[in-house]
Amino acid sequence: MSLLAKALRLAVSGHVLREPLPRSRLRPGLVFLRRLRQRPKLSEVPCKKATTAAAAEEDKEDEEEERGGRRAGRGEGAGSAPAALGSETPGGNARPQDPLQPGRVFFKDGFGRIHEIQQKHVQEYGKIFKSHFGPKLVVSIADRDLVAQVLREEGSAPQRADMDSWQEYRDLRGRATGLISAEGEQWLKMRRVLRQKMVKPKDVATFSGGVNEVITDLIKRIRILRRQEKDGETVTNVNSLFFKYSMEGVATVLFECRLGCLENDIPQNTAEYIEALELMFSSFKTTMYAGAIPKWLRPIIPKPWREFCRSWDGLFKFSQIHIDNKLHHIQSLLDKGEELKGGLLTTLLRSKELTIEEIYANMTEMLLAGVDTTSFTLSWATYMLAKHPEVQHSVYKEIVRNLGKDKVPDADDIPNLPMIKALLKETLRLFPVLPGNGRITQKDMIVGGYLIPKGTQLALCHYATSYQEDNFPSANEFQPDRWLRKSNMDRVDNFGSIPFGYGIRSCIGKRVAELEIHLALIQLLQNFEIKNSPKTKPVCAKTHGLLTPADAINVKFADRK
Ligand code: HEM
Repeated sequence: MSLLAKALRLAVSGHVLREPLPRSRLRPGLVFLRRLRQRPKLSEVPCKKATTAAAAEEDKEDEEEERGGRRAGRGEGAGSAPAALGSETPGGNARPQDPLQPGRVFFKDGFGRIHEIQQKHVQEYGKIFKSHFGPKLVVSIADRDLVAQVLREEGSAPQRADMDSWQEYRDLRGRATGLISAEGEQWLKMRRVLRQKMVKPKDVATFSGGVNEVITDLIKRIRILRRQEKDGETVTNVNSLFFKYSMEGVATVLFECRLGCLENDIPQNTAEYIEALELMFSSFKTTMYAGAIPKWLRPIIPKPWREFCRSWDGLFKFSQIHIDNKLHHIQSLLDKGEELKGGLLTTLLRSKELTIEEIYANMTEMLLAGVDTTSFTLSWATYMLAKHPEVQHSVYKEIVRNLGKDKVPDADDIPNLPMIKALLKETLRLFPVLPGNGRITQKDMIVGGYLIPKGTQLALCHYATSYQEDNFPSANEFQPDRWLRKSNMDRVDNFGSIPFGYGIRSCIGKRVAELEIHLALIQLLQNFEIKNSPKTKPVCAKTHGLLTPADAINVKFADRK
């Protein structure tokens, strides 16, 4: 067992004690935690009414969602009135004989299977249960309607989790916080600025040109890589290829520059630099748990914290170099009296709505959030397309019908290609990059009949809800068409699978990620038939900070006839 795992074991001291909330407490009228003096009357709990009459365009919905006002989807019991949920449904399973058993399973099976352990705990303890992580009480929720309720009731500045270790690093180095690590007013101010530039479809559409240039390089690179294999068609380890694509894509959007990750003959120093980037991302995932290790253990086990700081140093340094370059470029244009045109970074640097330190911090955190997420999703989508030729055929047919075999797509074409959108949604349902998410309650809440005090850490079990049959019939099957609207009145959004989160604190890069993935998949399918190769092995998911493919994905990219 690695030192890090040992340290974590100590940190939670074997007390990953999951227990269902006792049945009696399910009844409205009983208090969840005694220290809460007054239980609010159920009728006082704000609930929004569910409505299925929703015909608004998806673009509008997303903007609306950002403001926290999205309507319920098909089949959702959105309002989640506690009276109804106060029945014996959630959490009603029997208490296990040996309450330490789950802890053992957790450590025996390792951190790589946290997503499966999430499912196992839900099966054992029900859709809402409490557990302890060290001294911290965590309430896990794996019920679509309860997740919807929690997210709909959020205030103006929701808090995801305790970000002490991220804050500590920033204090240590005199760095600012970015959207992921900031809270309260500070977060709200930055979110307002960034959402103006990254969420509206028309702003995101301006990134199409840059992203398409990267895709051209991706396709060239695939042609080169497959020549290295005997069959002339297989590309091994598409994971690494898509890492480079995502790095290059996000750099185009965030830093308005190209890095050269997909070049064929990259100079030695660039190759080393890409390798260093891959390593930095990988080591970040390993060390992101460093914050869970108590400070008093650091002198005994210094490595995780040291590595955590080193990964951040690398990420900040990388962003700062590119931001400073842009700043110098802008200055030189201004000195020459030339017109200033540019994208996100240029606008941010010009507008001065954020300080330079805030720009460094936000770009760094977006870089961290935007590379692996996109690249894992593309790797899985490719894998699933190879495994499901019938799905691939119908997506391809739609592309040919609505766009043509050769037309380079842009953001405006996507609404005419619902299968591409469905393909992404289904890939993220089966492989949600963030298998779980967190919220710290900002007020006392009644959820599923329990009174949960302000300040409680909630764990939203998205992986488990994504695989629940009542949310998604034949949940283990890859069926992108489940996401297609059958009519204008039809709503297919579903809180069982919200891979980008929901509401005001949801993923700010959702539209950028969708653009990078949709455009790449369209062009890949226009150029190639993606097929199983003798080198294609079954690949499972593992949790390594994020949900990632456990092995290299190898598939054929055969030329389209
Ligand atoms: C497939 C790709 C992606 C997935 C699945 C994904 C998923 C998520 C999720 C689940 C969250 C947490 C939302 C919540 O707490 O409700 C999040 C937050 C965030 N994501 Fe993404 N993301 C992706 C790509 C990106 C990209 C490309 C960027 C930036 C260019 C980005 C930037 C961020 C940031 C900054 C946050 C924190 C937002 C805040 O706290 O205000 N993400 N993402």
